[in-house]
Amino acid sequence: MAPVTSLTASVNARLADALSATLPEADVDPLLRRSDRADYQANGILTLAKKAKANPRELAAQVLAKVESGDLLKEIEVSGPGFLNITLTDKAIARNLAERYADPDRLGVAPAEHPGTTVIDYAQPNVAKEMHVGHLRSAVIGDAVVQILEFTGENVVRRHHIGDWGTQFGMLIQYLDEHPHELDHEKSDDLQASGEEAMSNLDRLYKAARRLFDADEEFKTRARRRVVDLQAGDPATLAAWQKFVDESKIYFFSVFEKLDMEIRDPDIVGESGYNDMLAETCRLLEESGVAVRSKGALCVFFDDVKGPDGNPVPLIVQKSDGGYGYAATDLSAIRDRVFNLKSNTLLYVVDARQSLHFKMVFETARRAGWLSDGVKAQQLAFGTVLGKDGKPFKTREGETVRLVDLLDEAIDRATTVVREKAEKVGLTEQEIVENGRYVGIGAVKYADLSTSAVRDYKFDLDQMVSLNGDTSVYLQYAYARIQSILRKAGAAAAPAAHPELELAPAERALGLHLDQFGETLTEVAEGYEPHKLAAYLFKLATHLTTFYDQCPVLKADTPAQMENRLFLVDLTARTLHRGMALLGIRTPEKL
Ligand code: ARG
Repeated sequence: MAPVTSLTASVNARLADALSATLPEADVDPLLRRSDRADYQANGILTLAKKAKANPRELAAQVLAKVESGDLLKEIEVSGPGFLNITLTDKAIARNLAERYADPDRLGVAPAEHPGTTVIDYAQPNVAKEMHVGHLRSAVIGDAVVQILEFTGENVVRRHHIGDWGTQFGMLIQYLDEHPHELDHEKSDDLQASGEEAMSNLDRLYKAARRLFDADEEFKTRARRRVVDLQAGDPATLAAWQKFVDESKIYFFSVFEKLDMEIRDPDIVGESGYNDMLAETCRLLEESGVAVRSKGALCVFFDDVKGPDGNPVPLIVQKSDGGYGYAATDLSAIRDRVFNLKSNTLLYVVDARQSLHFKMVFETARRAGWLSDGVKAQQLAFGTVLGKDGKPFKTREGETVRLVDLLDEAIDRATTVVREKAEKVGLTEQEIVENGRYVGIGAVKYADLSTSAVRDYKFDLDQMVSLNGDTSVYLQYAYARIQSILRKAGAAAAPAAHPELELAPAERALGLHLDQFGETLTEVAEGYEPHKLAAYLFKLATHLTTFYDQCPVLKADTPAQMENRLFLVDLTARTLHRGMALLGIRTPEKL
């Protein structure tokens, strides 16, 4: 399917032609914007007039005289200090939409001209630990960015940099060794049940090991020896470590399944995945002088990174006891991602509280020559999830909230909402349960994705599952309502474009917004900003509501008008469906 040239791009091209025909030397963007006054407004002429020392309104009039209207433009007029107001023909809008409709998959959206390879680091929980809301954000934002980039044609490599290495494993392994049946449980086919059980075993074991470690000096010594064994690659110790990793993965997969998110095992390359590179990474940094020894530790210093006492705070790549830390792993991962995976963009969907770490890691990699002009590294930092009280999300007892509990509550609430309308819509019990999941999980994802990632957001389930306002369920209803109309129209009338028909204002507004899907996606993909896609979709649903108010579909004046309106709503539904899918959110057919 050939991509569809957007109306914006077509108008822009005509204006650009007229601009350069008026002043051949000028190279000025017409600066076309959607406008309330007309369909579009171009304000680039002001810049041009300034350069040419001409009167902007006169220049605008000259440009206007040179614009080729053809079938595309219905009206063009000079307005304000020298803007051009542009109104399109109904026919041009309808034809454009018909072309998009003929491409159900991509809706006419062109893939990126120069796709590259992006490695994206997201959804990175820690082994033997509960997942919390921070892990939720990384997973939700990361998954949306993956879907969006893949849609543009980017080659995306996913990396789940799970915390699966470190001194805490000495304690866990030693405890398991002394209590060998602590992780045993029945294997079941039910991923949710296995996941719950795996985590509760891990949690119990973790707490017991911790208690012993703090209370018993001899156990502490044995545990410390275990760390040395682990690092030396002792097979029995590694096998025990692997048990923790496998058990945790069962849990992770159960949570990701609940989140309705596909996470693949081969993409899970945790901290341990870079063990073989750590020594070399340190050697390269030390030999090149990027890192220096300071009190035995291998450190990288920065002019602009200082502690509260004014002394420089280094990035520690290797501790004085020889142990490698978080930084060594991340630096090795950069080498792997740049040189082995050949990526030109490295993204990290990680909590804003780790921004200093990434700033130092990226700068170190730049000094070492691992990041160069051809490779971009960027942290997509996200803010904190807050409770209704505006404080970091905690239980009443002050503990971190288990992600699973949160998701279950969202699903419960959503199921109640779905059930209220179930009879009217004709949902089976199974559909209620399924939709409850899609609405609940969608609500959580949408709440996260509809504000700019760096901002903190309030986790407020009442608001999230509300039918009014900027929520996923509002968008899901918009989609389901269209499906219901299409079902009602049934065999009597099929959606079909009728470019010969005059369009009502609400139809034009809806159509022009539909045309902007591709341009919105380009912007969203370039800036890694899913919230702009959410805003686009919300606006689309709003246009749809206005359209319903003003333009009866099933009671249209003529059969042709009814077909044309069915076509408009069907294209809207496809755009909603596609857009929501890019955010990782389902659109049930009946709701
Ligand atoms: N596991 C870490 C955490 O729970 C996040 C890892 C982020 N990725 C990275 N390459 N450092 O906070």
